[in-house]
Amino acid sequence: MTSDSRPTVELAATNDQPAETLPVIGQGTWYMGEGLAAERDEIRALQQGLDLGMTLIDTAEMYGNGGAETVVGKALSDRRDEAFLVSKVFPWNAGRDSAIKACEHSLARLNTEYLDLYLLHWPGSIPLEETLEAFERLQAQGKIRRFGVSNFDVDDMQKLTACPGGDACAVNQVLYHLGSRGIEHSLRPSLRQHAVPLMAYCPLAQGGRLGRDLLNDADIVSMARERRLTPAQLLLAWATRPVEGQRDVIAIPKAVDTGHVTDNANALDIELDTEAIERLDALYPAPSGKTALDIV
Ligand SMILES: NC(=O)c1ccc[n+]([C@@H]2O[C@H](COP(=O)([O-])OP(=O)(O)OC[C@H]3O[C@@H](n4cnc5c(N)ncnc54)[C@H](OP(=O)(O)O)[C@@H]3O)[C@@H](O)[C@H]2O)c1
Repeated sequence: MTSDSRPTVELAATNDQPAETLPVIGQGTWYMGEGLAAERDEIRALQQGLDLGMTLIDTAEMYGNGGAETVVGKALSDRRDEAFLVSKVFPWNAGRDSAIKACEHSLARLNTEYLDLYLLHWPGSIPLEETLEAFERLQAQGKIRRFGVSNFDVDDMQKLTACPGGDACAVNQVLYHLGSRGIEHSLRPSLRQHAVPLMAYCPLAQGGRLGRDLLNDADIVSMARERRLTPAQLLLAWATRPVEGQRDVIAIPKAVDTGHVTDNANALDIELDTEAIERLDALYPAPSGKTALDIV
């Protein structure tokens, strides 16, 4: 799934899955399959990203009302085994039986027999015990290899891990970029303690309550230029930087533009120097207290 010299994030072994490594940068698909770009360009972008090592592809039944999953299915039609495929279930479809149906619909659109990872898109009102039961059934049927959650804050994670089977949660996907660092206060440390990696959505700061136009921020532009990087590469290298020597973040930028895809893939090889990290910390410090989880 990853080339040997590039940085990776490790998913822990479970009862029926071996430990595996994933690239620190994957590909998002929000707004694909909605007619905003030509379908052939979206397919080409995902295949280009795959060729360049961004083998994790993130989608959801929500995106384009299933349209993004259809695009991903076409992109992977003859290369499914090259990708680590992630999709998500709406909270209101995450019941004991409804989650099975929702997953089967996703699989049909994706033209595949299994997902590598299936996430609960955000916390809802269906009891987590029911969702976990459905996820375990899907695993037993070979329809998903692993499961996880998205937009879960510290208290949501505590509720999840208190449920039987909840501690098998493989990842938590949350909004994370240089301009929105709230998770660094308590969510990220607690996930690290439990060896649960993060997937960082909106890593280029294109969304979120605290979203800013970091791609055009004068400091970011000049710091990137000094290092012969693009602003996007600086942001991706920052989001996926190791903390205390360990990587635990997979960023999932979405890109249709060919140049953007190349840019993002080249960020897989960038290790930020300490001076850059310190300067970025000074410009965009993490909050000193707990803040509400940022979402889009
Ligand atoms: N779990 C959740 O609740 C949740 C919420 C939001 C997003 N997500 C996931 O996270 C993914 C990423 O988030 P996002 O799509 O909202 O935001 P993003 O990845 O931060 O930004 C995407 C935008 O940035 C542009 N872009 C990409 N690479 C670039 C580069 N190298 N230079 C300049 N611009 C670049 C893209 O343009 P082009 O497309 O024109 O190249 C697109 O307009 C989503 O696609 C989705 O899979 C999950």
